[in-house]
Amino acid sequence: MPALMALRKRAQGEKPLAGAKVVGCTHITAQTAVLMETLAALGAQCRWAACNIYSTQNEVAAALAEGGFSVFAWKGESEDDFWWCIDRCVNLEGWQPNMILDDGGDLTHWIYKKYPNMFKKIKGIVEESVTGVHRLYQLSKAGKLCVPAMNVNDSVTKQKFDNLYCCRESILDGLKRTTDVMFGGKQVVVCGYGEVGKGCCAALKAMGSIVYVTEIDPICALQAWYVRIWVRGQSMDGFRLVKLNEVIRQVDIVITCTGNKNVVVREYLDRMKNGCIVCNMGHSNTEIDVVSSSGVDHVIWPDGKRIVLLAEGRLLNLSCSTVPTFVLSITATTQALALIELYNAPEGRYKQDVYLLPKKMGKHTDRGQANSLLGSSAVLTLLRKKRLTLKEKSDCTKRTDQDFRKGRRDSGVSVETSRGRSLWRGCGITGPGATADIFI
Ligand SMILES: NC(=O)c1ccc[n+]([C@@H]2O[C@H](COP(=O)([O-])OP(=O)(O)OC[C@H]3O[C@@H](n4cnc5c(N)ncnc54)[C@H](O)[C@@H]3O)[C@@H](O)[C@H]2O)c1
Repeated sequence: MPALMALRKRAQGEKPLAGAKVVGCTHITAQTAVLMETLAALGAQCRWAACNIYSTQNEVAAALAEGGFSVFAWKGESEDDFWWCIDRCVNLEGWQPNMILDDGGDLTHWIYKKYPNMFKKIKGIVEESVTGVHRLYQLSKAGKLCVPAMNVNDSVTKQKFDNLYCCRESILDGLKRTTDVMFGGKQVVVCGYGEVGKGCCAALKAMGSIVYVTEIDPICALQAWYVRIWVRGQSMDGFRLVKLNEVIRQVDIVITCTGNKNVVVREYLDRMKNGCIVCNMGHSNTEIDVVSSSGVDHVIWPDGKRIVLLAEGRLLNLSCSTVPTFVLSITATTQALALIELYNAPEGRYKQDVYLLPKKMGKHTDRGQANSLLGSSAVLTLLRKKRLTLKEKSDCTKRTDQDFRKGRRDSGVSVETSRGRSLWRGCGITGPGATADIFI
């Protein structure tokens, strides 16, 4: 986890989290363990529970416990176990958290419900997921948010990496490990074309699946768009935009990625074909109308039809496969930076509201990760020195892909020697048909 290691190396002398008592509720995976070790190296004490009953890697939880961390989690908790674990994290004599790191909002919700007085000592909440962020905004709107909160999900370093690439890299793995399905030629409908949906669609398309998309947001719908009849051959990402009821009878796989409730309701389950695989990549298990039903369930209808429901409708990749560490390094670093920012912020900088991580801090994450990716911070330093003028940027947009491959530009930096096009974008130059200025 390069960015996280870079942060640890840089900040462990200063101990920016000295005195912080962080209570966390996230997926307990090897990557989380590295985050917890980093927080401890920066001076924090941590107590942790899982945010999902299936995503805990038991060997990791055991190793953390052996290393002296208080971790309450195991794979396959019951609902009661889940809340018991969260309660054990916060309800401890002589120890009170002053920072919350949440994924989904359940920990925050529990403290609000059971121990509201704790908020007197809590300096802030860092929330990772879309779902948890929605809950925070609801609290804020109702005037009930009593500490500042940092919305990590919408920071560019989380959403544009974790949500998109983690899901693109892990959706196929999750489906393969559980069903052994062959993807080529399969008809798949992906509900929601946000970052997670885009990742899933890209992976399935690359494997030769026929991918349909449902969307309620016009912008995301337009991104997915492919319309054969109206505008011949015109499309954005080239996915058939459909209503779920139009394709539900014919599809082989249904994947929900909306973060919304009741996306696949009983009526759709009734109409699915025999053997249809149904799974969810969103945060909570409310996207699919699952009344009851570890890993793979065959739900059998009275006429003998079977639906293959994966992970009880809980997020598939974290329940049934693994996710790429390199991408999660970016998210974990963003979380650590958000904790540092909120914990050290002077009185009055943040009010009782939901904030985005200051952009400058997010860029540290990318730079840390980019430096180690490129193997040379000197390259980036060089590029920073040769800051491009706006004119150069606009000239650059006129260049063709061919020019990029030739690897030449006015400032004299060779693209090829700097490992290709991503570096062009890394310099904040607009490449042909794409914009990406996150590294600057
Ligand atoms: N599995 C993972 O590894 C992982 C990683 C990151 C985020 N998530 C979770 O995935 C979910 C989606 O995250 P995101 O970043 O893509 O969010 P997003 O807001 O970018 O995208 C969600 C999309 O779903 C659409 N949508 C909402 N309701 C819909 C409906 N009924 N039918 C069709 N489309 C609908 C929205 O318009 C939106 O475009 C969240 O719950 C998030 O917490 C999962």
